[in-house]
Amino acid sequence: MNKAKRQAVIAGNWKMNKTRPEAKALIEQIKPLVKDADCGVVVCVPYTNLETALEATKGSNIKVGAENCHWAKSGAFTGEISADMLAEMGVEYVVIGHSERRQYFGETDKTVNQRVRAALDAGLKVILCVGELLEQREQGITEEVCGMQTKVALCGVSKEELSHIIIAYEPVWAIGTGKTATAEQADEVNGFIRSVVAGLYGEDAAQALTIQYGGSMNAKNAEELLSKEHVDGGLIGGASLKAEDFSIIVKAASK
Ligand code: 13P
Repeated sequence: MNKAKRQAVIAGNWKMNKTRPEAKALIEQIKPLVKDADCGVVVCVPYTNLETALEATKGSNIKVGAENCHWAKSGAFTGEISADMLAEMGVEYVVIGHSERRQYFGETDKTVNQRVRAALDAGLKVILCVGELLEQREQGITEEVCGMQTKVALCGVSKEELSHIIIAYEPVWAIGTGKTATAEQADEVNGFIRSVVAGLYGEDAAQALTIQYGGSMNAKNAEELLSKEHVDGGLIGGASLKAEDFSIIVKAASK
């Protein structure tokens, strides 16, 4: 099975949560619970918590990510953070194209592509988010939407660079709603995304790509979702803010 060859990665997306002392306390709680993980473990935290997270995770198996980055190297972009700034700190991952950025902050497929390019140029690993809205699923255009988002985001990304990318399929209707996609729905779209990547980069590259599922993944449903052939991990929102729940998901991915 190809799944066995791919690295499973469980990443927490803390979104706009936690002050620095709270971030430190949460990481200290998570550390012993995930130390024997047989999968990648990442915490993606607000910019203000990056230094705290890097310090707290030193010497552990937990990697640190940011939740976005700008596409320019530097310049007059008030309030923004560049990929180089993150890389210089020692940050390893960055989430790009999250649906909350697309919904609330005018993120487009084109700006997602520009940010992916900037992140790769800075040496960061990218967690690229794609996913359909509820009405798009109801119209039967989930594959068109996810296919287009994937293709545009990967414009100008080489086959070699693809190994620095994780794709996270996050159906927007499942985020923060408690409404999870069924394991079959997640597997079906993840498999479709893999076929799109195969069309761009060939079957070998597509088979090696880690494709996560995100959207109300929790301690109870993780094992079933993660058992599916094309679900190579998870991007976890709410449940990543509870050490115990997050560690149960990491354990499920380690099987
Ligand atoms: P929830 O797990 O809270 O649904 O959030 C998922 C998500 O958006 C992760 O990026």
